[in-house]
Amino acid sequence: MKQVAVIILTAGRGTRMKSALPKVMHKLAGRPMINYLLDSVKALNPDRVIVIVGQDMEIVKTTVSPYETVVQIERLGTGHAVSTARASLANFNGTILILHGDTPLIGLNNLKAILDRSSDLAIVVLGFRSDNIGRYGRLLINSSGKLESIVEFNDATDEQRAINLCNSGVIAVDAIHLWKLIDKLSNNNSSGEFYLTDIISLAHKDGLICDFIEASRDELLGINSMAELAISENILQNRMRLSNMENGVMLIDPTSIYFSWDTQLGQNVIIGPNVVFGPGVSVGDNCKIEAFCHLEGASIASNSTIGPFARLRPNVIIGNDVCIGNFVEIKNSTIESGTKINHLTYIGDSQVGSKVNIGAGTITCNYNGLAKFLTKIDNGAFIGSNSSLIAPVKIGKGSIVGAGSVITKDVSAGSLAITRGEQKELSDWANHFFNIDKKSTKEDK
Ligand code: UD1
Ligand code: MG
Repeated sequence: MKQVAVIILTAGRGTRMKSALPKVMHKLAGRPMINYLLDSVKALNPDRVIVIVGQDMEIVKTTVSPYETVVQIERLGTGHAVSTARASLANFNGTILILHGDTPLIGLNNLKAILDRSSDLAIVVLGFRSDNIGRYGRLLINSSGKLESIVEFNDATDEQRAINLCNSGVIAVDAIHLWKLIDKLSNNNSSGEFYLTDIISLAHKDGLICDFIEASRDELLGINSMAELAISENILQNRMRLSNMENGVMLIDPTSIYFSWDTQLGQNVIIGPNVVFGPGVSVGDNCKIEAFCHLEGASIASNSTIGPFARLRPNVIIGNDVCIGNFVEIKNSTIESGTKINHLTYIGDSQVGSKVNIGAGTITCNYNGLAKFLTKIDNGAFIGSNSSLIAPVKIGKGSIVGAGSVITKDVSAGSLAITRGEQKELSDWANHFFNIDKKSTKEDK
């Protein structure tokens, strides 16, 4: 087996993104696109990995760490970018696999396929076909079916642009040839850049054999603009929808449900329409997430129901058999098993025990403008509707908070705490106020 070194190109300016963030840090399903590529590369287990970054891309360096990075100071094109790895790979013999950081959805199988094909060839390019291929480089194939050159979209004739076989950017080159070919590159083209893709025609001229293999468009789409980011997001979401359904998760309206790359769903889970999973969510067996929920950083044990219209923010742990109802927001809190928080409630920085009932409109007042404080609600407590619990505060086991209370002091176990003003009744006061006497009121009936 030949040794394998991977070079990942990320240094381009990404001007078409029109964003200050380096292109490869833009997120797909909640994590930077480069991480998907790094996962595939890691699974390939190559002998060397070098990531080419731009000068102002500390964040990319940190993200790809511990992989080695090389800074491409001037950004003179993909061929120039590869040449910056030359010193690091000076003594390397084997296959150099070049990947683009903006083509992140390629899977391990296609990386293996191109390496297999390249074992006895100078260069192999991974191509794909599409009826709507936009600005990709086109693969020009000769009469014996071998790859002769790649023409960039900007330099292509109308006839060449009509070819529907395009360059994914993934190229495997034998190290023996790569640096010599790179030395011959020129920037005499419409973009004034050193195109890596020109190594094919140069190799061909030297009598070296180049070939291509084809793979699915969905793994090879490049991301150069926000519109292309959205297309790749859609492909990824569809993959996750499908794999969840294959695992037995019921998605009532799959295309309206958005997953994060790390969403974990158990057995017999039902997800209603229009549910969004942010990063860090796990849902246990037999749970139901009703329509229009937004969940992030939450772990939900089994047999619980969330929503409709619930929002779980980071650091939420929910036990078994819990009901979280409509217009309930929870953050940084633990809710133990059998508890019900069914309507219109905010629970923040709280520890809520088991079999607690939290009435509609309950607010844990966790923030005084300077710091956050803890609310503890012990097992079996009952919080009446429209209560404000001013943290720090502890509501004892089995106690009751009367509806409409503002609780500022701890409530001991088993007691009733109620702070609402006493009810007075002034007979006929309203009738006088509205200038109506009793007689006419009776007649109205
Ligand atoms: C490139 C290919 C094109 C192919 C397409 C596939 C070339 C000349 N063109 O076009 O044939 O169809 O990818 O997606 O190779 N980069 C650097 N330094 C640079 C320039 C670019 O590191 O100086 C990096 C970019 O960050 C990016 C990758 O190389 O990850 C490709 O560059 P990009 O500008 O996106 O090339 P495309 O126009 O997409
Ligand atoms: Mg690109």
